[in-house]
Amino acid sequence: MALLQILHFPDPRLHLKAHPVKLFDKELKVLVDDMAQTMYQNDGIGLAATQVDVQKRLIIIDISKSDEAKKLQAFVNPEIISRSGDVVGEEGCLSVPGVYESVRRSENISVKFQDLDGNVYTKDYTGLMSVCVQHEIDHLDGKVFVEYLSSLKQNFIKKKMKKIFKPQ
Ligand code: NI
Repeated sequence: MALLQILHFPDPRLHLKAHPVKLFDKELKVLVDDMAQTMYQNDGIGLAATQVDVQKRLIIIDISKSDEAKKLQAFVNPEIISRSGDVVGEEGCLSVPGVYESVRRSENISVKFQDLDGNVYTKDYTGLMSVCVQHEIDHLDGKVFVEYLSSLKQNFIKKKMKKIFKPQ
């Protein structure tokens, strides 16, 4: 396993649209292992391939608490096929460390996705899991959660990130 480098907002590579996964091979499993190690190392609960500069439609999520057993879920080619309700909650992102802002999301979603072997599933999610899946799928479409905020707030966050991550 290997730790991967996480891109930070406003890196333009975070705005690339990821391509569908067609090969369910060993390489995909290795990528998931590396992404999982990277996510756990950074105390994250979700990570999209886009965030590690890989343009594949793949996200991983683990919302288990630190005192619970790990429960990693990988979604390949995830697609929201229906949604209902509204919920506003505070979100954070490993690509925008230290920033937590409220975002409006759908409360309930139905997601079609594949597992690492290509099997197709459709599952319903609500609560934190629903928000997480929506946040991560946004990454695959090149959208970072702070882009839901006012341009004033976004500019403030960009400045803050540039201070933290000065170019080498
Ligand atoms: Ni994120």
